[in-house]
Amino acid sequence: MATKLPFHLRGNYAPVTEEVTALDLVVDGTLPPELDGHYLRNGANPKSGWSPHWFAGDGMIHGMRLRDGNAEWYRNRWVQTKQLNDPDARTIGKDGVSDRTVGVNNTHVVSHADKILTLVESSFPCEISSDLDTIGVHDFGGKLDSAMTAHPKICPLTGEMHFFGYGFFEPFLTYHRVDASGQLVQSEVIDVPGPTMIHDFSITATQIIFMDLPVVFDLDLAMKGGMPYRWDDDYGARVGVMPRSTPGATPRWFDVDPCYVFHPLNSFDAMTSGGQHGAVVIDTARYPELWRQDSAGFKNDAALHRWHLDLDSGAVTESQLDDREIEFPRVAEHLVGLENRFGYAVGSFGDQNALVKYDLSDNSSTLHDFGADRIPGEAVFVPSAESASEDEGWLLTFVYDKPTESSHFVVLDATNMSADPVASIALPQRVPFGFHGSWIPSR
Ligand SMILES: [Fe+2]
Repeated sequence: MATKLPFHLRGNYAPVTEEVTALDLVVDGTLPPELDGHYLRNGANPKSGWSPHWFAGDGMIHGMRLRDGNAEWYRNRWVQTKQLNDPDARTIGKDGVSDRTVGVNNTHVVSHADKILTLVESSFPCEISSDLDTIGVHDFGGKLDSAMTAHPKICPLTGEMHFFGYGFFEPFLTYHRVDASGQLVQSEVIDVPGPTMIHDFSITATQIIFMDLPVVFDLDLAMKGGMPYRWDDDYGARVGVMPRSTPGATPRWFDVDPCYVFHPLNSFDAMTSGGQHGAVVIDTARYPELWRQDSAGFKNDAALHRWHLDLDSGAVTESQLDDREIEFPRVAEHLVGLENRFGYAVGSFGDQNALVKYDLSDNSSTLHDFGADRIPGEAVFVPSAESASEDEGWLLTFVYDKPTESSHFVVLDATNMSADPVASIALPQRVPFGFHGSWIPSR
């Protein structure tokens, strides 16, 4: 009897086999003319048809070019990594030596200093053009000496890109800062007790925030070839807060209840409970536990939580803001590290497949429910104008239609979540469920 394929190779997780270009797509509704740029989204799409884990497939970018109310093109392209073209290439070779120029670059795609970078947390970035052609590995002129997270943070105040790299071997964690022109200008080793999986982090206007949570490297799992991380009851859980202004500073660590976080929604400088400056707030999609035995036992039970850390007294306050399961939380890019009122996430509640808009001023939320048969991916918020109020703009995402096994690119009005989409564009092929994307406005 044939073995049932793992979830990440079935249904809309299954890879597509073709690179397609489609021009002048039919728009159902009206594409706002303010949307002038590229929506790009990365995801795992194993070229061989097989990968041992959802996170291990070759990176493929699906892109939309929007201009003057038109959808000029849809394209999908594999990131032409070394690993795509040489299946024997490995980030960690059989001799144990790391080669960060090798990676699947499947997790995120971001734009900084006029470069578009595809990212995976094991490796160096790989630069692509806005037409999705691969330019090559980008190691910041040879200065990058660690892997790069797929979740860098671009400070809207300074234009700097902050990021980190983590790995199995010491140093386990390194912080990096790239200036607004794209030069890597600071790298600092951060002391942590051991090698943990650190998927994402946060910034505020004044602080860098690391999460050192109890999903630890396991050599036995590594030898078996899957995701080499599992839960560890003995590791503890801590959040580190490090001032941005002081090169060489070390984080101050705050113990928190054990949990795992792939993705923060946002963080910002806040007031202490006594009404003084000197606290940070971190909102996250928090899992009570992750991968107790190994990464096969995945249950999506992340819910929106808030940590409030008082930098004076050391007090940690943890609160759950919603009891529903959500993932892929996002905030408007111009508010990364700054106080936000609104946030967006993907939620599946019974027969509802929804994009959720949180209003954190009163912990309320509104939904766009796509229904039982239509499933949205991560939504990216695009403001309608520089001077627009916080939620004036659009949410962009790919939506999968189960009965027809087809996909649409969908634009929602973020101020009117329950309304029909502003625009919906049928795509020439299915877009598999992926990870993260960005809106890259034209200059
Ligand atoms: Fe992620």
